[in-house]
Amino acid sequence: MGVEVWNHYLMQDSSGPVAEFFFSSKNVGEASEPRFIGRSASFQCGATLRVSLHVDESQIIREAKFKAAGCSVLVASASLLIDQVLGKTTGEAAALGQQTEALTERLGDLRPERSECPALACQALVSAIRSYSDSARDEWEGDEALICTCFCVSERTIEREIQARELTTIAEVTAACRAGAGCRSCYPLIEDILEEVNRES
Ligand code: FES
Repeated sequence: MGVEVWNHYLMQDSSGPVAEFFFSSKNVGEASEPRFIGRSASFQCGATLRVSLHVDESQIIREAKFKAAGCSVLVASASLLIDQVLGKTTGEAAALGQQTEALTERLGDLRPERSECPALACQALVSAIRSYSDSARDEWEGDEALICTCFCVSERTIEREIQARELTTIAEVTAACRAGAGCRSCYPLIEDILEEVNRES
């Protein structure tokens, strides 16, 4: 690689959107207890990212923090994403975490070897939301079993949709009632309900 090309790559990480989000990152650290943790790591470069969330009783993310051991693009990716999820419900935040391409676009023209960084940020965020969803589902005390924590969809609602619309796939269930449109930790449960209802019918 020529010196000019290398210099261009160095400049790319230290200017533009990456530099802007890197230098303005304000959500570094650890969210208050109780917090839910998500992690991601790159086998390619060894970078690691840890996201912690503090979620209130209305499922709103009140605090979101990250700790990164990696390059400026990883820090900028996490900083930009984490800033966007503050004040959002876990379902809305999980939907943002599925949009790796949109995050990549906002970071500008990334080097090919840095294209993994936005994906790592999304993975760590979604993993933290899964941790929250699993815990909230376990602690749920409502009359109907809660299946999709992200969008508060009960087992009964999913059963009804499957029966009424003759659904056979998770994608169809998601389109019908939003269950599964967030962190996807409810996928195995939706799968079980699909199997059970369609076996009986
Ligand atoms: S619990 Fe997150 S998508 Fe269903």
